[in-house]
Amino acid sequence: MRRGIVEPRDVRHVGVVGCGLMGSGIIEVVARAGAEVTFVEGTDDLVARGRSAVERSVGRAVERGKLEAGDAEELLERIRGVTELVGLSEADLVIEAATEDLDAKLAIFRTLGDVVRPEIVLASNTSSIPIVDLAIASGRPDRVVGMHFFNPPPVMALLELTPAVTTSDETLTFVRAYGTDVLGKTCVQAKDQAGFIVNRLLVPYLFDAIRLFDDGVATAEDIDTAIHLGLAHPMGPLALMDLIGLDTMMHVGDVLFEEFRDARYAPPPLLRRMVAAGRLGKKSGGGFYPA
Ligand SMILES: NC(=O)c1ccc[n+]([C@@H]2O[C@H](COP(=O)([O-])OP(=O)(O)OC[C@H]3O[C@@H](n4cnc5c(N)ncnc54)[C@H](O)[C@@H]3O)[C@@H](O)[C@H]2O)c1
Repeated sequence: MRRGIVEPRDVRHVGVVGCGLMGSGIIEVVARAGAEVTFVEGTDDLVARGRSAVERSVGRAVERGKLEAGDAEELLERIRGVTELVGLSEADLVIEAATEDLDAKLAIFRTLGDVVRPEIVLASNTSSIPIVDLAIASGRPDRVVGMHFFNPPPVMALLELTPAVTTSDETLTFVRAYGTDVLGKTCVQAKDQAGFIVNRLLVPYLFDAIRLFDDGVATAEDIDTAIHLGLAHPMGPLALMDLIGLDTMMHVGDVLFEEFRDARYAPPPLLRRMVAAGRLGKKSGGGFYPA
């Protein structure tokens, strides 16, 4: 018979799948909360690259006085990287943060369902893939849930929890308590629908800023200054999209449009053309501003 879910405070060993931008941050958050972490990456080189990313971020936390140097050393000793999902067989919780690709994630959840103990909760950090698809693939549909962190996870306080229609109340209660009491995040809950809360509201606003710019209503600088100073946002919408990446914005818009067929989510023509031209924002080619 399958055992009950562990108490959130008894989660001693967390598995994380993927150690890119988000995975490396999630690993740090979980390790800072005291857990041992095993993470999985595709190759030994990617394991080494992921580990360096965590080390750099932990180093920055020490420099900023958020972490003692001695604690940072112990924290890094609690983290190990492997290249096979079977390395997560002893995990008390698994958080998947691999590349946003449906087939890749379905394959990961199928394997996790086989190799991780049957009572363990499997969470996904996906921004757009239906949690229910991952839940069904795992063979334990009641124990799969979305845990959507924000970038960078060690800094951002919010955690969106997104239960699939199959997720049990026990699973949801567990991740809420883990996110709040153990990780110190503030949790909000949203339905398993593309965009959850934040992106559902953010994307039409960002796309409206592109439309305003493209209509020649104001310059990029003036649109951003207006929002920065008029609404006290840390940065304006065009600068924010340059930071997120215009290709990512287009992908998120496409996913939201596909789900809701609402024109507010359709990537504006200028965005598509900038992406086609390789103007992806800060990461390459510049965007609304030079890179
Ligand atoms: N970038 C963001 O701001 C953000 C915010 C919230 C959620 N997310 C979600 O987080 C997830 C990861 O996004 P990211 O921005 O960190 O991407 P990323 O490309 O930086 O990292 C993904 C990592 O997953 C690894 N990977 C791919 N397939 C794998 C597999 N089968 N096993 C193990 N590792 C594998 C890749 O090598 C890569 O290092 C996505 O689902 C994304 O939607 C991203």
